[in-house]
Amino acid sequence: MLIKNIEFIKSSNSIVECPKDKLPEFAFLGRSNVGKSSLINMIVNNKKLSKTSSKPGKTRLINHFRVDKKFYLVDLPGYGWAKASKVDREKWDKMVKEYVTKSKVIVVLFILIDIRLKPQDIDISFLNYYGKKNIPINIIFTKCDKINSQNINKNIDTFFSELSKSWSEPPEYFITSSIKKTGKDDITDHIESIYSSIKNYEKNL
Ligand code: GTP
Ligand code: MG
Repeated sequence: MLIKNIEFIKSSNSIVECPKDKLPEFAFLGRSNVGKSSLINMIVNNKKLSKTSSKPGKTRLINHFRVDKKFYLVDLPGYGWAKASKVDREKWDKMVKEYVTKSKVIVVLFILIDIRLKPQDIDISFLNYYGKKNIPINIIFTKCDKINSQNINKNIDTFFSELSKSWSEPPEYFITSSIKKTGKDDITDHIESIYSSIKNYEKNL
């Protein structure tokens, strides 16, 4: 997919503030610091589009980026940032949960998982929460440049064997590195193919 134009549209505090133009949305969620903003920047080839940081807790609002006036990429605040106050953590979780569950335009919720780690309860519980609400989910493993290919395969196996306790059919997944641009074409092709299938669906109505 060739992206010609990317525009930051707005940052919102709640779903009522989000853009109202009903374009399809691809949303990115995951633990704070997992690499959501970096991944969006990789997809659109612009390192400065979404602010990133080596410290967790950088993205604190719902950020809408419009691609070629066709669809949105949505960068969300992360969950599980240990140093945030309980009040703040609950505020962000509520904001994100409300946005994701009430939205009528999210076509895929990408849940990002740090490929270096053993399965984390918090990731599994968010996957289960949104899965039970029938939100279409794909998994994106991040930071694959940090471990070797043997460990990548091992960690993915371990992750899916843990997930199989609650999922009969696991979500489709992608392996990425925003540093090395691994997985960029897979993800952009996937987004493009979902976008085309929606367009065709709309035409056939
Ligand atoms: P919050 O907004 O705080 O929730 O974090 P985030 O999930 O948006 O993470 P962000 O993109 O800000 O990245 C966090 C840190 O991880 C930064 O220091 C990035 O440079 C680093 N990072 C992100 N993706 C990768 C990757 O694929 N490989 C490596 N090595 N580092 C990465
Ligand atoms: Mg971020």
